[in-house]
Amino acid sequence: MTTAANIHKKLVTRLLLGWLCLSLILGAVVFFVKLEEIDERVQDIAISESMLIIKDKRFFTPNLSEPDYKSLHDSLRRHIEQGHFIVLELYDANFKKLFEAASENADAKEAHDKYIEPAEIAAKQNATMFTDKITYEKFFIHGRIFLQFVVPLFDDSKKKYGYFEGVYRADDHMMSDVRNILIGSLLIVVLTVFVTAAIFYPIVTRMNKDLVTLTDDLSEANIGILEALGSAIAKRDSDTNTHNYRVTIYAITLGQALNLTDAEMRSLIKGSFLHDIGKIAISDAILLKPGKLTDEEFEEMKHHCLHGLDIVGKYEWLRGAVDVVVYHHEKYDGTGYSKLPGEDIPLSARIFAIADVFDALTSKRPYKEPFSYEKAVGILKESAGKHFDRRLVEVFIGLSKKLYDKTVNMEDETLEKTMLEMIRKYF
Ligand SMILES: [Fe+2]
Repeated sequence: MTTAANIHKKLVTRLLLGWLCLSLILGAVVFFVKLEEIDERVQDIAISESMLIIKDKRFFTPNLSEPDYKSLHDSLRRHIEQGHFIVLELYDANFKKLFEAASENADAKEAHDKYIEPAEIAAKQNATMFTDKITYEKFFIHGRIFLQFVVPLFDDSKKKYGYFEGVYRADDHMMSDVRNILIGSLLIVVLTVFVTAAIFYPIVTRMNKDLVTLTDDLSEANIGILEALGSAIAKRDSDTNTHNYRVTIYAITLGQALNLTDAEMRSLIKGSFLHDIGKIAISDAILLKPGKLTDEEFEEMKHHCLHGLDIVGKYEWLRGAVDVVVYHHEKYDGTGYSKLPGEDIPLSARIFAIADVFDALTSKRPYKEPFSYEKAVGILKESAGKHFDRRLVEVFIGLSKKLYDKTVNMEDETLEKTMLEMIRKYF
């Protein structure tokens, strides 16, 4: 997947996640606000109905005659049958029950389990008779709202003479209203957030596209700088770009076969381009000497790895190249430039060393003709476990014939094109 497609995918995923999170948060807020409103609505209706019931002062008349008592009891029963209450009770000021009527239906029986002692509810409230919002307990049975509330009753001289208690059951019509209000509100929230996201999507993608173009330009410029630096050192070394292109292709192919991460691949690629950048600091007399170097000269030549570190080590973007630049002349048996052995040599440097030597063996040099593929592979095999990491050599040999056949006679231009196509996947 290209960088642009990757960024676009991330953007769409984040927009969707944002839409979902915002819908959930706003939905929850609206849900609870609406639930409060519904509570108040149910409470208002319940209180209005209660008012109708308790306006009959006979409820609180002491020493009622038997017929009056019976008629009042019947009146409560009628309210139960015709109204919305499933329990209606009247208490004196000491919570002694005076009247009681309860529905026999199934809901009423289940409500019994949730029933709270009226004294307990009354203790929680400071309400005066219907002048303040009353305290109530709300519960649900099969998704239906029930309110149990206790209202203190006061006479004209503000003396508390009893309590009215009711368990109100929201009817089907009210529950349908409740559902419609909740679903409607949630739909509005979800749609509003969705429409907002839909409006912002083209704006954000447009900005994102500009940003991706800028990033691509920067990436191209960075790759160009890598190539230019690699090319500069190749010129200094009387070499061509061919070596740089080929070793980069070999190293990328081996890195991919070893399942390196994208970040590791980027480091390997940068290292492949810049591996010999420290040679800039080596004098012409040594770098371009046709004959064999003296021990002293060789010691100075070895310094090109540390010169390379000085050059790339201080730049964040080039720092990934350090492992290859510093350790590409190490040997697996610990006999390399700085005697680092085995797995202590960074993986990218072990990979690059194989690519570098294989290309050197199969390429023409002023002092030698190119070796045949078979001879070069034979040398790699012999050096496995000594110069090179045996495991990596085995993997490379498995890839090498195809790589060799593909690149051995490739023109510089095609090599560069092939290499750039491989590189762009990681930048
Ligand atoms: Fe080198």
